[in-house]
Amino acid sequence: MINVQPLRQSEPIHIENLRKSFHAPVANKEPHYIIKDINLTIKGGEFFILLGPSGCGKSTLLNLIAGFIGKTEGKIALGGKEIQRPGSERAMVFQQADASLFPWLTVRENVEFGLKMKKLKKAERHEISSRYIELVGLGGHADKLPKELSGGMKQRVQLARVLANDPAILLMDEPFGALDAMTRRTMQKELIRIWRQTNKTVIFVTHDIQEAILLGQRVGVMSVGPSSQITDLHDIPLEYPRDLSDPKVLELLGTIQNHFDE
Ligand SMILES: Nc1ncnc2c1ncn2[C@@H]1O[C@H](COP(=O)(O)OP(=O)(O)OP(=O)(O)O)[C@@H](O)[C@H]1O
Ligand SMILES: [Mg+2]
Repeated sequence: MINVQPLRQSEPIHIENLRKSFHAPVANKEPHYIIKDINLTIKGGEFFILLGPSGCGKSTLLNLIAGFIGKTEGKIALGGKEIQRPGSERAMVFQQADASLFPWLTVRENVEFGLKMKKLKKAERHEISSRYIELVGLGGHADKLPKELSGGMKQRVQLARVLANDPAILLMDEPFGALDAMTRRTMQKELIRIWRQTNKTVIFVTHDIQEAILLGQRVGVMSVGPSSQITDLHDIPLEYPRDLSDPKVLELLGTIQNHFDE
């Protein structure tokens, strides 16, 4: 059994009329907005899913919440405070693990990186990294370099590193997209277990409706871009763990699928 420290619940995220354009403004011309007029409040401790087709702006919205990029117009705040830059209470699990791992560090060194920055003692770092390396199923691979790992294994290293830093808000950008079906299911279950134990806020991006319904308390559906908006919000008031053979799950799957087909 792996123990995870319980944590104080994070503050809510408020988004109002949020717009993002990557182009410089041109006089008398409507900017090319990727996302336009997003309105959303995500409660502290909520497991929220952002679901939408490829290219609609899911990563863009997640990057705005992370503070990696700036908004064009509107409001985006954590608690009462405008998000202007990254913060240690928010951590991102990227779509591409390669973008986040240090290639010259071993699995363990990658996982311990943030702990070292926080000046944790070696023994403590070792204990925490062992716990999370084990959790993501990489026990026995701790001394390998990223180049010796498969894509799915690298993705799990990234997840272990983020979890080891124990952020209050987990921003997850299609984190299990590169995993095989079995590992994916294991990781989904572990994520739910960690979330329930720790009260973290999870904002999880996916384009997989099944994954959305297995994991989320609430699903925000984004429309096709540009000028993408959240066009539907679905509550998923079902117990965990959820099963794809449950008629209630199948019913929701149909409902959300219908919105996509419209
Ligand atoms: N830095 C950038 N500069 C210019 N355009 C960008 C930038 N980042 C994203 N875009 C554009 O914004 C749109 C949305 O991209 P984004 O990566 O947010 O989509 P997504 O929903 O995450 O897609 P996917 O499901 O394929 O990951 C795309 O048209 C993309 O080309
Ligand atoms: Mg994306």
